[in-house]
Amino acid sequence: MGRSIDMGAAALGAPALIDLEELLATRLLVQGNSGSGKSHLLRRLLEQSAGLVQQIVIDPEGDFVSLAERYGHLALDAAECERDLPAIAARVREHRVSVVLNLEELEVDAQLRAAAQFLGALFDADRALWFPALVVVDEAQLFAPAAASDGSDEARRLSLAAMTNLMCRGRKRGLAGVIATQRLAKLAKNVAAEASNFLMGRTFLDIDMARAADLLGMERRQAEMFRDLERGAFVGLGPAISRRPLRVKIGAVETADRGAAPKLAPLPEAMEAEALQNLIFAPGEAPPPPRVRVAPKPELLQEIFERIEAPAPDIVAAPPPELTEEEREAAIEDIISQIVGEAKASQQAAETLHRDFQLRCRIRRLGPNTPDLADFRRRLTIFRAKQAFPEAADEESWGRAVDLAARLPGDLQSVFLYLSRAAAAGQPCPDDAEIAGFFGSASPSRARRMLGELERNEWIVARVDFEQRRIIAFPELGLETAA
Ligand SMILES: Nc1ncnc2c1ncn2[C@@H]1O[C@H](COP(=O)(O)OP(=O)(O)O)[C@@H](O)[C@H]1O
Ligand SMILES: [Mg+2]
Repeated sequence: MGRSIDMGAAALGAPALIDLEELLATRLLVQGNSGSGKSHLLRRLLEQSAGLVQQIVIDPEGDFVSLAERYGHLALDAAECERDLPAIAARVREHRVSVVLNLEELEVDAQLRAAAQFLGALFDADRALWFPALVVVDEAQLFAPAAASDGSDEARRLSLAAMTNLMCRGRKRGLAGVIATQRLAKLAKNVAAEASNFLMGRTFLDIDMARAADLLGMERRQAEMFRDLERGAFVGLGPAISRRPLRVKIGAVETADRGAAPKLAPLPEAMEAEALQNLIFAPGEAPPPPRVRVAPKPELLQEIFERIEAPAPDIVAAPPPELTEEEREAAIEDIISQIVGEAKASQQAAETLHRDFQLRCRIRRLGPNTPDLADFRRRLTIFRAKQAFPEAADEESWGRAVDLAARLPGDLQSVFLYLSRAAAAGQPCPDDAEIAGFFGSASPSRARRMLGELERNEWIVARVDFEQRRIIAFPELGLETAA
């Protein structure tokens, strides 16, 4: 058994334990009617494992934001950062931060899209970042419905695909799904099927009780018991919980849940009819208009581009200038230097910068075949490497370095260009933090991994001189960084 977390009390008061490592490998599915205590159960699980594993909570109702105050989770209001969610998810993965993605302010459609984008970006993280994380999704039937439900087909398709990836293919990437649903019948089958651990709470419909009993390997005639479970009581089974169906009473939690069950409150005293009329029909301020949220429009940029491209109806454009290949290259480099010069360029995704680049190419009328994203990335890196080491460089070797680098994949290409430029300019090897900074990472260990990768494939040879300075040699270029 690995590290266990305490979920509450099992039979005879023994603690009900969940083996965390096993849970990471085998996932968890929770079923129970509204009010049966699913969110409370998830909260208990999150609190008990908070210091042990990264946690990512998809929170449709804003129930889990209170974890932030107590356990330091980052609370993300999806409505405020909708457009940046993929970039945020990528950083969350890189820095292993626990987060609560609060979707409550979004319309259904936008909720589905936001969850899809966020999960998608977690899933797409670089292999080097496949650290273990619990991904908790409450009300999972919203995101992975068994049949048509709220939201547009398109949004539903996206979120269902993201949930399927999470549950079916997430494990290898370190993502362990923990999902709760009111009814299994409402949850897409392939999403439910991948969990090997179950906690089944109170349900009333025959079909739900029967399914719960089936999943737990109980006899059908015992299924009736799910009707009588009290709030907070669940029956668990699975490699991380127990080999036999085990009754569990979920224990107390530390943080408050906002959606506490409504309690009866005494009504105000009855009033005279007239007083009542005055109270209700008194003139006063109109109620505030409902808040309208403008749905984000990913097509917007595209539309703008198309409008720029479409010739204005009655003004005939002058023919584009005839440029030589050299003039064209110079114009492209000039645009790249403008983009790099702008303050926030280093924090923006290459895709965003590329769109900006294309736009500027159009404005300068550089013709149809402007560099595509991959080519643009390469040029951007080359430009930045030259900018980092502007000293009179061995231009011939540098030219060969640029050609060679084209054979390397993305991030390695960027490290190779940066270091070979240092060598061509007769400069010493930058340290790990500088190398990481060059390809937009804050992690020196990532830089070391990439150096290791380059070295294993014999692109570089690294050694340390007698004064402990790192020297990188480039066998194919006949270059090395200065001591
Ligand atoms: N094990 C428990 N111990 C104490 N209170 C609980 C327990 N489980 C649930 N509750 C309370 O019951 C109410 C409903 O629980 P909740 O977790 O929101 O249900 P669900 O998410 O299934 O609709 C909440 O006010 C919650 O605090
Ligand atoms: Mg709930």
